[in-house]
Amino acid sequence: MKNVFSIDDLQNLAKKRVPKMFYEYADSGSWSGETYKANQNDFSNIKFRQRVGVNIENRSLSKTFLGKEVSIPLALAPTGLCGMQHSDGEILAAQASEDFGIPFTLSTMSICSIEDVAKATTQPFWFQLYVMKDKAFISNLLSRAQSAGCNVLQITMDLNILGQRHADVRNGLSAPPKFKLSHIKQILSRPKWALGMLKAKRHFFANVVGHAEGVTDSGALWSWIAEQFDSTFSWDDLDWIRNQWKGKILLKGILDPNDAKKAVELGFDGVIVSNHGGRQLDGALSSISALPYIVDEAGKKMEVYMDGGIRSGQDICKALCLGAHGVLIGRPFLYGLGANGKAGVTRCLEIMRDSLDESIGFLGEKNINDLSRKNILDMSYKKEIFN
Ligand SMILES: Cc1cc2nc3c(=O)[nH]c(=O)nc-3n(C[C@H](O)[C@H](O)[C@H](O)COP(=O)(O)O)c2cc1C
Repeated sequence: MKNVFSIDDLQNLAKKRVPKMFYEYADSGSWSGETYKANQNDFSNIKFRQRVGVNIENRSLSKTFLGKEVSIPLALAPTGLCGMQHSDGEILAAQASEDFGIPFTLSTMSICSIEDVAKATTQPFWFQLYVMKDKAFISNLLSRAQSAGCNVLQITMDLNILGQRHADVRNGLSAPPKFKLSHIKQILSRPKWALGMLKAKRHFFANVVGHAEGVTDSGALWSWIAEQFDSTFSWDDLDWIRNQWKGKILLKGILDPNDAKKAVELGFDGVIVSNHGGRQLDGALSSISALPYIVDEAGKKMEVYMDGGIRSGQDICKALCLGAHGVLIGRPFLYGLGANGKAGVTRCLEIMRDSLDESIGFLGEKNINDLSRKNILDMSYKKEIFN
């Protein structure tokens, strides 16, 4: 893609190519957006220590995630409605990440189904679970994901109630969605997107329709979604899920070292330090600020990942220096998808890889596994904050 050098460039293109309601669904945080903004802004509290006069030829960015090699320490985060940024969005993003040698995570609330993505890819992908009230549905979902070859399960811990995003309410994207004349105008103003959608395989949540009891069409779907998020969900429910899953499990949405400690005690394979991209508790700590505390608690006992606010290889580098085993991105790949489908996701991954590679070189490092706190000055980290 010509003249696309940054995630901002992809975002600007996505804004022009995706109908406003879906673009804003991605580019928004809950309530005031404080945590959403902090996720990106707080990276600037961390400064690199540039070192010179070091031979940095033949740098290596590869690493293992839960025992499997990845070309760079990055995975695509689960994103609901991904297939509304571009037709067949989940399939295209999964194919781009497979070509790149990194994991793709399919959301429970995806547009394309588990089986659609499995059919279009050759490598195992990761699956993300929202714990719903309908236990038969969850059991069936876990079994479908395993039959499709998914080898890692992310259990999302921070969404048993929904943070409000004003943009979604204004755009009628709450459950049930309110269709307005302005939606038609938005769609007609994005003809390429609309034509793609006409040819798309799916238009609704394909993991749910035809699989949850009584949800046979889009009408029933919305009332099912509205009542299914389970506010009783607690640590006690995790065993029930674990007994049904043979692969690795990451707990996603951990922001407090006490919760990380619990994840270690319960024997999970890892955690993802995340505030859901600033879409849940507004005013929560940014992920990059929470990361070092979680690493101190759990980093030697499990793999600690993080997501939220990563927009460049420099950001990835900072997270790794603070002890993240790896990172995930949500909006950056969605902007790539909206900008130009699979090629846009690939461009997003290239931007991440190339800027990561050059940054480790400037730090005087050749191997990604050698990054540590020695390479940065963290201007905000104060050990006593969680006492
Ligand atoms: C549009 C959108 C949809 C999302 N849907 C889900 C989801 O279905 N499940 C989930 O666990 N997290 C979901 N998330 C959160 C992401 O997995 C991830 O935590 C977040 O996007 C990371 O922040 P970033 O977008 O700044 O990279 C979503 C995020 C966005 C932006």
